[in-house]
Amino acid sequence: MTGLSLTNVKKSYGETQVLQGIDLDIKQGEFIVFVGPSGCGKSTLLRMIAGLEDITSGEVCIEGARVNELPAAMRGIAMVFQTYALYPHMTVYDNMAFAMRIAKESKDAIHERVMEAARMLQLEPYLDRLPKALSGGQRQRVAIGRAIVRQPKVFLFDEPLSNLDAALRVQTRIEIANLKEALTETTMIYVTHDQVEAMTLADRIVVLSAGRIEQVGTPLELYTDPANVFVAQFIGSPAMNISKARMEKAGETSLVTAESGLNIEVPVCSEESLAGTELQLGIRPEDFLVAEPADALMSGKVLFVESLGEVTLLHVKVEGHDEAVVAKLPGILDFHKGEKIYLKAEPEKIHLFNREGVSLKHL
Ligand SMILES: Nc1ncnc2c1ncn2[C@@H]1O[C@H](COP(=O)(O)OP(=O)(O)OP(=O)(O)O)[C@@H](O)[C@H]1O
Ligand SMILES: [Mg+2]
Repeated sequence: MTGLSLTNVKKSYGETQVLQGIDLDIKQGEFIVFVGPSGCGKSTLLRMIAGLEDITSGEVCIEGARVNELPAAMRGIAMVFQTYALYPHMTVYDNMAFAMRIAKESKDAIHERVMEAARMLQLEPYLDRLPKALSGGQRQRVAIGRAIVRQPKVFLFDEPLSNLDAALRVQTRIEIANLKEALTETTMIYVTHDQVEAMTLADRIVVLSAGRIEQVGTPLELYTDPANVFVAQFIGSPAMNISKARMEKAGETSLVTAESGLNIEVPVCSEESLAGTELQLGIRPEDFLVAEPADALMSGKVLFVESLGEVTLLHVKVEGHDEAVVAKLPGILDFHKGEKIYLKAEPEKIHLFNREGVSLKHL
């Protein structure tokens, strides 16, 4: 069943259009993650779904029913923000019970649901505390608990973990993953800038840019088969290296040459019409391997070494390339600034895009 559908949803503030016509169908119980650069419209879209922002045009439906005109409180949606905004003078228990008390639900019903949420979020030891006596992660869990108690049809999260330190983020991320397992009927939309959160939590990721959807897919679809250069460089860290190239010969085994002197046969079934055209060629930093001069795809001088322990990032100046190429190699490597290095990649790990940046597989 469709949990939520957006049809040609647009948003303008005066003359400025910030959402350009969003079409998206989300299944009931699906966990969707929105990612995209700052200002691309993620929060605006979430707030429109929640009913906190007018919809300029288009339609928002929840479980098949149009909700454009429905006030926020009637939509069956709960939203958790980056700043948790708990009631400071109320205990954890009262914070979570508040919405049900306002709705005049029975004491027993309230108790049952608050205790259930507290158990799910491991908040039982803190029920009598005031928010000021909690850590940031615990406060954010109370904010999530407060939303769960309302039993929403749709759960919206706008960067809920971005105020937490790294260790707490990991812990709270696992709790959100458990929550997703426990609430299989609840549709969830989650906004984040964190690649790991997006990759690990999402059933499908929606990549937005400048108010448009660039691609929708499972995390691994977006990683292995990005539809365009934008998605290719947005998903994965450090970003995919892109260089100018040329399709010398198209067909089963196409010959591509790049400015870096690269001369490579790649297995793409491309249109004959692409022969002789300019391309963009992409290689992920983690897909590079150190090569011998004889089998190298490219060679260059090491500009800069970043040793992270588990991996070494090499920034390499490749002939004919304006920007440094980044290679991410496993382990601790003994490379120095100025050293010559030879790199290669498996042909099937090489991504090809046309001059406009569209993947040749998506033409
Ligand atoms: N009330 C408003 N009036 C005018 N423009 C607005 C208003 N609210 C948001 N915008 C603009 O709409 C665009 C989208 O904003 P939005 O907050 O949705 O971005 P975002 O993707 O959530 O960014 P971030 O990742 O920084 O949170 C921005 O360019 C922003 O300046
Ligand atoms: Mg935002």
